[in-house]
Amino acid sequence: MTAINDLVSYEAKGTVGVVTVNSPPVNALSQGVRAGILGGIQAGIADDSVSALVLTCAGRTFIAGADITEFGKPPREPSLKEVIDTMEASTKPVVAAIHGTALGGGLETALGCHYRVAVASAKVGLPEVKLGLLPGAGGTQRLPRVVGVPIALDLITSGEHVPAPKAHKLGLIDELIDGDLVAGAIAFAKKIVAEGRPLVKISDQNEKLEEARKNPSLFADFRKANARRFRGFEAPENCIKAIEAAVNLPFPQALARERELFLELLAGEQAKAQQYIFFAERQAAKIPDVPADTPLIDIKSAGVIGAGTMGGGIAMNFLQAGIPVTIVETSQEALDRGIDIIRKNYTATVAKGRLTQEKMDGYMSLLTGTTNLEGVRDADIVIEAIFENMDVKKEVFTKLDRICKQGAILATNTSTLDIDEIGSVTSRPDYVIGLHFFSPANVMKLLEEVRTKKTSATVMATCMALAKKIGKIPVMVRVCDGFVGNRMLAKRTEQAQKLILEGAKIEDVDRVLYDFGFPMGPFAMGDLAGNDVSWRIRQGKGVKSPVADAICELGRFGQKTNAGYYRYEARSRTPIPDPVVEEIIEKVAKEQGVTRRPITDEEILKRCIYPMINEAAKILEEGIATRASDIDVIWVYGYGWPVYRGGPTRYADYIGVEKIYNDLLRFKETLGGEEWTPTPLLEKLAKEGKSFKDL
Ligand code: 3HC
Repeated sequence: MTAINDLVSYEAKGTVGVVTVNSPPVNALSQGVRAGILGGIQAGIADDSVSALVLTCAGRTFIAGADITEFGKPPREPSLKEVIDTMEASTKPVVAAIHGTALGGGLETALGCHYRVAVASAKVGLPEVKLGLLPGAGGTQRLPRVVGVPIALDLITSGEHVPAPKAHKLGLIDELIDGDLVAGAIAFAKKIVAEGRPLVKISDQNEKLEEARKNPSLFADFRKANARRFRGFEAPENCIKAIEAAVNLPFPQALARERELFLELLAGEQAKAQQYIFFAERQAAKIPDVPADTPLIDIKSAGVIGAGTMGGGIAMNFLQAGIPVTIVETSQEALDRGIDIIRKNYTATVAKGRLTQEKMDGYMSLLTGTTNLEGVRDADIVIEAIFENMDVKKEVFTKLDRICKQGAILATNTSTLDIDEIGSVTSRPDYVIGLHFFSPANVMKLLEEVRTKKTSATVMATCMALAKKIGKIPVMVRVCDGFVGNRMLAKRTEQAQKLILEGAKIEDVDRVLYDFGFPMGPFAMGDLAGNDVSWRIRQGKGVKSPVADAICELGRFGQKTNAGYYRYEARSRTPIPDPVVEEIIEKVAKEQGVTRRPITDEEILKRCIYPMINEAAKILEEGIATRASDIDVIWVYGYGWPVYRGGPTRYADYIGVEKIYNDLLRFKETLGGEEWTPTPLLEKLAKEGKSFKDL
């Protein structure tokens, strides 16, 4: 074996030369890897003892893409294009041997090879769009030549990871390998040589592009059909333009156009924000005082207490991960209703073709329902998801502590209550933790995990790993009212209520936040979630919100009652402004002596967002969140903060902390109120000319 450099080696195995990349953790295409592959391929071409080459990777995965940490730094030779050109031009067949994930530049490298083989568990894809980019090393040119333009449009603008068997059907993978990958790839390469098969240069293939040329409205139709999905994002449009270039220009010019469109995105703020979130998400997985090698509890079964919307959604996550669930309700009727909703959810997914009946049956077979709490006796983790009432939760935890086996984790899905207090009624407060799922719990990615003063490192490490297993993005925070997400949301809600009293229209507040990039504004969101939920919480705390309370007193709970902040036609989800609500607002404003005035969009935006940023600073000061970027992950994955704006603290850094500080002081002067007092941390950052990222 010859070391080409520290990261890549070359070895002739009989008549096939094997180039192996070994650059942990994910074999990203750093300068060293690019240079190594180039050197390895050149060594193979020059080696007279071999007639074919295999490109493979050591470790857990094939090349996972360009090295994102190199973005924004001066380019270093060789470029990925040079590496790919060299492979494509090789006079000996080059076969990519794929395991793990071949993503982005990794798949582009594989598409530069003449053939691709993979193990069945591998996945391939061009996920650059998720980083605010487009495939910049020929991916937008070669993929449509293999799978056709319509499928390439879908794959490139969604960034979907395609399982190898499907990729095989699409023609992206030439052969699936059973058993040892490298041995299989060598055998495949020998077969290519023996059969005298051609050196397939994808860049020369034009058949699939011809098909697209026959459909001139293809791109316009695609844009129209996906306008909602792409709203606010810059990258999808550049992806489409690059694929259009593939169809309309000769390969070299189209490749140059792809480069231009790639560089345009790379220089933009959206790509920087999206890459920031990529790394923030991975940072969030690390808890400073929980070592990476902390022993984990093996979670083989779960219990869920409460079969309501939340409990049912939580249970679904476990079922989908192959973990058996026992769900407990107080009455048979409520239990049957809960299980029925789970079944209906899956049935709807099957009907849409997104789940097979066989898989659904598999999930349902893992679900057991009972009205007896003793049913969770053997569960490794129990998650309580009943209504928000401290006394009832304490009663349930007292019982669970008695029933559940030693070593079982007792978790609560509370979104507001003091988990230290809940844990205090058990004999195992170190095994008590908050697992705050977001509604709908089977869909929303965020899992806000809440450690108490006593939660053990093992329990935290287990719950972080478990979150990943059930497809969630976990962030560990500490106990306070509302934890991180809802505590900040309360600041936005407070301003939204004040704004409508002072003269802003409900639909204007919603429009401004929608245009900022949220999926919907606060009032539309209240109507969707049910205004009665927060009303009950307010009643429990003895807190008043005059307009919100008045609306609920009229039974206007939102979409489910066809009326809330808006009115709704029967069976429609379209919000229609309602003069009845405007009258309520005017009445409350009069009672409170509030002078109404026109309010600009700029004021609406700043008043909704800046108090959240101030609260984020307070949360950091108090140590409730570990890092500013954790807060951003929470808002992007739990509350629909537009990922291309990178989360509240990243947005603050983009606007400038000092500017925000000055605006807070201005609002304090004009509007009054303690909410405008900058928190000491924000003041410090502003006065020192620093950003959240400097913390
Ligand atoms: N560049 C640099 N570092 C990367 C990386 C990349 N492309 N991909 C992953 N890493 C790092 C992560 O930051 C993490 O570092 P850490 O341990 O210090 O936190 C480590 O590798 C392991 O990553 P994960 O924790 O994500 O490991 P998983 O096993 O859960 O997932 C993965 C592996 C599916 C490969 C996932 O890391 C991933 O999706 N990576 C990004 C893939 C991607 O977007 N590729 C396209 C890049 S852009 C491009 O190729 C442009 C080209 O067109 C020119």
